[in-house]
Amino acid sequence: MRLTLTVNGIERTCDVHPLARLLDVLRRDLSLPGTKEGCGEGECGACSVFVDGKLVNSCLVPAIQVAGRDIQTIEGVAPSAELLDRVQEAFLRHGGAQCGICTPGMILAAKALLAEHPQPSMAQVREGLGGNLCRCTGYTKIFESVVAAAALPSDSPLSPDEAKR
Ligand code: FES
Ligand code: FES
Repeated sequence: MRLTLTVNGIERTCDVHPLARLLDVLRRDLSLPGTKEGCGEGECGACSVFVDGKLVNSCLVPAIQVAGRDIQTIEGVAPSAELLDRVQEAFLRHGGAQCGICTPGMILAAKALLAEHPQPSMAQVREGLGGNLCRCTGYTKIFESVVAAAALPSDSPLSPDEAKR
């Protein structure tokens, strides 16, 4: 089937299997590997993307259901190739980015949380990221990074080098 959708602000068209998942279309057909597959069952959040601004698990979404919709993936979070979004910046500064599997989904879940709760409590951070699993080093630095992101101005992204200072 021919599928057209907008991904990270760019209209994309590809031919997909009628039962293809959004996750597979993003990774395989549109060459956007930032969205990860963990469980494939809607339990881990590694495959999180925004569909029309709503956070979803792309492993559970048939691609044809989002025809014509607006998708944002982790590749579309930074304002440019040289600049980081504040959540990315905070993850970098505070050690929240610990592996490549869970981090993209964590960052998108954090952005969804901050949109709803600009100054979240730690309890709200825990709840907001409750659908995103980390199987290795634990959640402390991830949660601290989200709280730190809330304290950063949303309109003044830094370069990765600046963010490390
Ligand atoms: Fe989609 Fe785990 S891969 S929720
Ligand atoms: Fe990514 Fe634990 S699974 S840091």
